Amino acid sequence: MNIAAFASGRGSNLKAILDKIKSGDLLNAEISVIISNNSEAGVFKLGEENDIDSIHISSKAHPDPAHYEKAMIDILEKYNIELILLAGYMKLLPSSIIKNFKGDILNIHPALLPRFGGKGMYGMNVHKAVIASGEKESGVTIHYVNERYDEGLVIKQAMVPVKDGDTPEILALRVLKTEHELYWKVVDFIINKETPQQSIRDITAS
Ligand code: GRF
Repeated sequence: MNIAAFASGRGSNLKAILDKIKSGDLLNAEISVIISNNSEAGVFKLGEENDIDSIHISSKAHPDPAHYEKAMIDILEKYNIELILLAGYMKLLPSSIIKNFKGDILNIHPALLPRFGGKGMYGMNVHKAVIASGEKESGVTIHYVNERYDEGLVIKQAMVPVKDGDTPEILALRVLKTEHELYWKVVDFIINKETPQQSIRDITAS
């Protein structure tokens, strides 16, 4: 299955997925193209190392929203993309893509949605908010993407403990480890295991 990965940063979640493709644990998946809004993003290096076309599309480079959308749609068509994975992508996808794209669009979030999500809840902000709330559990959420930040239907969650004395940085690392373990499994399920009888939409959060 041809996958487009959208990322704005270092791309460690994408790397974890690429590692599972290379090791043969994740079959029938190909990261065909990387799209980033950030020309400085570390994910470009990852793309280069893995020989994956990596394309910068930003509203700065494409100030006209119609051109911006068209640039994205052209890429999705050119690479015959069937699945979109957001992996640390800081922008909303244009609504025309969300409405018209035929495959699934997934996102990973470093907390247990619906708490600690929404605009501004990214990066260390999430972990700071979790610690400030006194919650003893955080985690990872993988969800379908809709037109609002972090609000699409939840597919899978995994719990990560918040420990006494955690700093946001320590919690972020613990959560990230679980992100790396979970995202590829959901992708694997969608590509290789989902059937009309057993849809990932039926799998309850755990
Ligand atoms: C991850 O914490 C992910 O949950 C969030 O953005 C971060 C991206 O990290 N959406 P990386 O670029 O994959 O390392």
